Amino acid sequence: MFVDFQNVFLAYGGAAGYAVEDITLQARPGEFIAIVGPSGCGKSTFMKLATGLKAPTQGSVAIGGTPVTGPLKFVGMAFQAPTLLPWRTTLDNVLLPLEIVEPHRSRFRRNRDEYVEQALRLLKQVGLDGYADQYPWQLSGGMQQRASICRALIHEPKMLLLDEPFGALDAFTREELWCVLRDLWTEHRFNVILVTHDLREAAFLADTIYVMSKRPGRIVVRKENPMPQSRELDVTYSEPFTELVHELREHIGRVRHG
Ligand SMILES: Nc1ncnc2c1ncn2[C@@H]1O[C@H](COP(=O)(O)OP(=O)(O)OP(=O)(O)O)[C@@H](O)[C@H]1O
Ligand SMILES: [Mg+2]
Repeated sequence: MFVDFQNVFLAYGGAAGYAVEDITLQARPGEFIAIVGPSGCGKSTFMKLATGLKAPTQGSVAIGGTPVTGPLKFVGMAFQAPTLLPWRTTLDNVLLPLEIVEPHRSRFRRNRDEYVEQALRLLKQVGLDGYADQYPWQLSGGMQQRASICRALIHEPKMLLLDEPFGALDAFTREELWCVLRDLWTEHRFNVILVTHDLREAAFLADTIYVMSKRPGRIVVRKENPMPQSRELDVTYSEPFTELVHELREHIGRVRHG
């Protein structure tokens, strides 16, 4: 198993008690999982545990067969708000992790041409051909989010963590980016953990969908996606898709009010 959470509890301290409680979850290498649940239930906390930004109060987290004891390097992350640096071009934003993370950092100057080529290839893959030299503030929100995804993938991470990455985008752009992500994942087969409020997004992209209860967050449902990968947008009009989304919505309704 690539991702292995065993009976994980996390308390941030203070009187609030556990933020997540007794989380046991496993993902195979290359599996795409989605986590859905009400606001404040512990989804971002789960991400912090998965990348070693937080250590469990109780239980164990292992990634790639190794217990997580500190921040992991082989992870890429993208969040709801694109966090590109305004004084760097799109290309230089995408290159940033290579200037920070070893082993790339010490090779960066020597291998810059190669890294630039790699960045341009990724930008092309997400439809940003020709925007490398533009600054983030010259790009639309959707374009900035595409660039953020390139930046998350530039060091060829084994695991990609996405916390509400498309939340701020209009429906058309969002669906377009689902397909971009699907294609990148189909090609590279990194593990993905996607946190989302959009049940259609989870149903379209993920192999396995987990529903969390409200605080303290527990996994209350594990649902395998019955539809074969890699899906086209047409599938969102099909009956199995609608059924899956309905089922997830019912679970969410129960954890919110139960
Ligand atoms: N650094 C922190 N210190 C103390 N409490 C925290 C900290 N971060 C999160 N919490 C608390 O832990 C709980 C879970 O927070 P978390 O951010 O994981 O929720 P979430 O599911 O990501 O919510 P949302 O959907 O709104 O992003 C919340 O009650 C929150 O107040
Ligand atoms: Mg969150």
